[in-house]
Amino acid sequence: RKVAVLISGSGTNLQALLDHTRSGLSAAKIVLVISNVPDVKGLQRAKDAGVTTEVIPHKNYKNRQEFDAALTVALRKVETELICLAGFMRILTGDFVKTWRGKLLNIHPSLLPSFKGMHAQRQALQAGVTLTGCTVHFVAEEVDGGAIVTQEAVPVLPGDTEDILAERIKTAEHKAFPRAMEMVARGQVVLGDDGCCSR
Ligand code: GRF
Repeated sequence: RKVAVLISGSGTNLQALLDHTRSGLSAAKIVLVISNVPDVKGLQRAKDAGVTTEVIPHKNYKNRQEFDAALTVALRKVETELICLAGFMRILTGDFVKTWRGKLLNIHPSLLPSFKGMHAQRQALQAGVTLTGCTVHFVAEEVDGGAIVTQEAVPVLPGDTEDILAERIKTAEHKAFPRAMEMVARGQVVLGDDGCCSR
């Protein structure tokens, strides 16, 4: 399966996906990395792995529709079959989500449906939960609302700050995202017409 990864930043999840596909045993092949922000570390990670990169700055487009249309053009050009949002900090339009239905995965730093939206780690600390983690899900129009592919839990420990917790969650993300990508690339998990995963 031809996979495109969309990023906005450091790209540690991208790195985990690249490392996973390097084994040669994966059904996923990362063919394109797109960033909406120029000069981020994730772009260098892609280049180091020999993967084509493209920068599509959202600021160059007058609205979300036009930005998303530019993404779709770039994704189609390389015949993308699966898209992984790996720290991509833009909300996508309903049209984009429909176009790529069942082919669009996101990672979120909480055990959904808890703590949707921004600052999921802060929300977890404020709620006083003792367990949080990450979720890989198919993207639906409702932000952080799509069908869950896989999750990975981590403890919240006494003395945790937002940054410490975020780092612990990231190590879980680096296991969960390659696993989810692999399951979807192999067709072991598909998004059903009812909006739920069938396995
Ligand atoms: C991750 O915590 C992800 O869950 C969130 O953004 C972060 C991206 O980190 N959506 P990185 O760029 O993969 O290091």
